[in-house]
Amino acid sequence: MAKNLVLIGFMGTGKSTAGKQCARLLERPFVDTDALLVERAGKPISQIFAEDGEPVFREWERRIVAEVAGAENQIISTGGGVMLNAENAALIRASSCVVLLTAKTFAIMRRVGDRRNRPMLASASDPYAHIVELAAKRAPFYELAADALVDTTDRPVDEVVQDILTWYGRITARQTEQEN
Ligand code: S3P
Repeated sequence: MAKNLVLIGFMGTGKSTAGKQCARLLERPFVDTDALLVERAGKPISQIFAEDGEPVFREWERRIVAEVAGAENQIISTGGGVMLNAENAALIRASSCVVLLTAKTFAIMRRVGDRRNRPMLASASDPYAHIVELAAKRAPFYELAADALVDTTDRPVDEVVQDILTWYGRITARQTEQEN
């Protein structure tokens, strides 16, 4: 069995799109932590935030991560807040190769589109400034947890996916060498 390939990073960096394509090419199961969470909670993320609050959402997220990080051989895309929790980060790192996706703020703005579906951005009066601030706060958490970094700004998905898979190959080879 192979280690999981986990994509982390800020909203709108292309984790789900790239993750799906990696899974298709590697012929491995794809898991999107947000999608699984919505399925388990039985309501959309925006509704969980509105009705139950962010702490309840984060607790759902913690449970989902504990479940998926316990298995192997999967391609996993994570919600942008997952790696801020040290327990989540440790569980993921123990069972996975972690690739951080990044993008410039203008690209994130373009990709996130309708902010009503993004509770972390929904109420910001200046979304651009809010993304800059939030991304800067989170960058150290992402960088600390990542084995590799791939920027997705203005790049076709195929190219991004090739970079991710190249890194995945290198990281798993290095880890196998260290284990033997
Ligand atoms: C969040 C990012 C979202 C989702 C939730 C909270 C965050 O996932 O988990 O809205 O805290 O950054 P994406 O990164 O997939 O948009």
